[in-house]
Amino acid sequence: MSADQIPLPPPYRIKVVEPIAFLSPSQRRDAIEAAGYNPFNLRSDQITVDLLSDSGTGATSSAQEAAAAQGDESYAGARSWFRFREEAADLTGYPYLLPVHQGRAGERVLFSSMLKPGQICVSNTHFDTTHANVEIVGAKPVDLPVAEAFDLDSAEPFKGNIDLVALEETLAGPADVGLVLMTITNNGLGAQPVSMANLEAVRALCQRYRVPFFLDAARFAENAWLVQQREPGYQGWSPRQIATRAFQLADGCLISLKKDGLTGIGGLIGLRDDALFAQCEANLIATEGFSTYGGLSGRDLERLAVGLREVVDPLYLASRAAQTARFARMINDAGVSIVEPAGIHALYLNAGRLLPHLSPSEFPGHSLGCQMYLDGGIRSAELGSLYLGELDESYRVVKPAPFELVRLAIPRRVYTSEHFEYVAAVLGAIAKDPERIRGYRITSAPALLRHFKVRLAPL
Ligand code: F0G
Repeated sequence: MSADQIPLPPPYRIKVVEPIAFLSPSQRRDAIEAAGYNPFNLRSDQITVDLLSDSGTGATSSAQEAAAAQGDESYAGARSWFRFREEAADLTGYPYLLPVHQGRAGERVLFSSMLKPGQICVSNTHFDTTHANVEIVGAKPVDLPVAEAFDLDSAEPFKGNIDLVALEETLAGPADVGLVLMTITNNGLGAQPVSMANLEAVRALCQRYRVPFFLDAARFAENAWLVQQREPGYQGWSPRQIATRAFQLADGCLISLKKDGLTGIGGLIGLRDDALFAQCEANLIATEGFSTYGGLSGRDLERLAVGLREVVDPLYLASRAAQTARFARMINDAGVSIVEPAGIHALYLNAGRLLPHLSPSEFPGHSLGCQMYLDGGIRSAELGSLYLGELDESYRVVKPAPFELVRLAIPRRVYTSEHFEYVAAVLGAIAKDPERIRGYRITSAPALLRHFKVRLAPL
């Protein structure tokens, strides 16, 4: 290998560290039992490697913390807001920007201002809170992912795309479509990216049928990186230019900045329509905070202003994508399949394939997640019939999810190769003897957003 082919290390080194917990096997057994076998009920000090979410879990940089020291906490008109707004406007190009404390707050403010009861909201795939917030205003979320998304093993580069034929049929049909919302990258379906060609086509259809087109752009920089790597014609573009072009195609955006904002908290609504802006602003002031802070502190706004620049750094994105790709190879080598091709913010384990002795009503994804905790203190998130299946009143699965997956989300700038090697080794030991793993049954579950508060027991 010549010197210019050697993969670069991450473009940062570690200055502040946080201890993590190593519980004994019996302590872990007690902890997960007391949590009702729901990882959302675990305490973080009961966890060794936490891959539950990439949201708000990233490390900030020394530049972000230095900026935070300059935070202006004035109730209205804070310097920090203008600093953040300038960065966000430069990146997105939207004339109207509203800060919110996190993505779902933006969903609530936007949907209650623009969706009417009975309307439908069409997406490549709604994220769970997005789905819930569409339903809360009386509208109906409809997902139209491309067929390739359902072949977990295919290496198609843009399995996050929306099915354009189905979208046009829906727009031309009798339903009243209030919004088309494209999630980039498609978190609900394997962290797969959306191509610029797909976004251009969605824009053209939305213009033809006069329906607003928005982005749910929580991972705008990671989508841009995958476009640069995979879509013909974008190799000469910087990730930032690609992200800006994506925002330009849409009428507005929602962004949870807890992901590609590289901060613990934050969100943004971007708009072009002044009447919609006025409506959202009134709603924001009543429920989130004045429109120059929207529930965020001046210190958060400062960290975000810096984070928006750091996240589109090609060296950072290359090293993050390479970290996930290496982790994917380790997991494959350990004998576990993932949704292909590997995206960036998470890997999705194919638990249905690993545990064929468990039926969907025994929740194989959940069983694998629990086993990873029991064997290694690893926390993950089920994306299978526990989360997406249809249940009857006694919690029996009447319609399973299409797949039984476990998401391993990868916090930004947090874990080293050794942590990923450890996780792959734990998975490798499970894959050597998968038949020992038992299923689970639900003992109690809420009606809305079941997975957050469900309780289970081993079968
Ligand atoms: N949209 C997408 C695509 C998301 O992934 C999330 C959050 C949200 C909206 C909501 O944003 O959490 O700031 O209110 N996803 C996290 C996850 C929670 O783990 O995937 P939020």
